[in-house]
Amino acid sequence: MNQDISTILYGKEQIQQEINRISAAISRDYEGKNPLLLCVLKGALIFLADIVRGVTIPMEIDFISISSYGSETVSSGKITERQKPLTNLKDRHIIIVEDIVDSGLSLQYLIEMIREDKPASIATCILLDKPEAHKTNIKIDYLGFSIGNDFVVGYGLDYAEKYRNLPFIGVLKEEIYS
Ligand code: IMP
Ligand code: MG
Repeated sequence: MNQDISTILYGKEQIQQEINRISAAISRDYEGKNPLLLCVLKGALIFLADIVRGVTIPMEIDFISISSYGSETVSSGKITERQKPLTNLKDRHIIIVEDIVDSGLSLQYLIEMIREDKPASIATCILLDKPEAHKTNIKIDYLGFSIGNDFVVGYGLDYAEKYRNLPFIGVLKEEIYS
């Protein structure tokens, strides 16, 4: 797998440092609010698992699944909901935990969908952002790293379901997907 990576962007220690910062911010901002961390499957699974272990206040987790890409590396703009959260979102403080914002269309769709359930608040917690690729106005409340337009894998992020288990975030060699 490692031979398919052209550059390692962030290693374990660097990621953990940002995770600690985000966990502390959530613990401070949501004291007494019992937030629901809503993990967007599957890419944000590892990010969520690391975040929650640093959160020091009572909180809950749930999962949501949407699909946008298939095995393409550019956003199709076509998004479908695959699995709803089991928790009733009404009057809850929701923190959407997502791996990456590219065009921002998935996150926008997700926010609109969640809003229909009348939560008390909605915030976004994103591991990676590609600001140059945005096609919509997205507000990120907690961000790990801002990156360029490269296609990245590892630490939960995949290409065609592979590479999620890499312990670092790296740029996938273009020859793998072109
Ligand atoms: P958006 O709707 O264009 O913002 O796409 C967001 C989704 O596309 C993310 O949740 C990822 O699943 C996927 N995605 C976008 N860029 C990358 C990348 O560089 N690596 C892996 N997945 C990506
Ligand atoms: Mg995703």
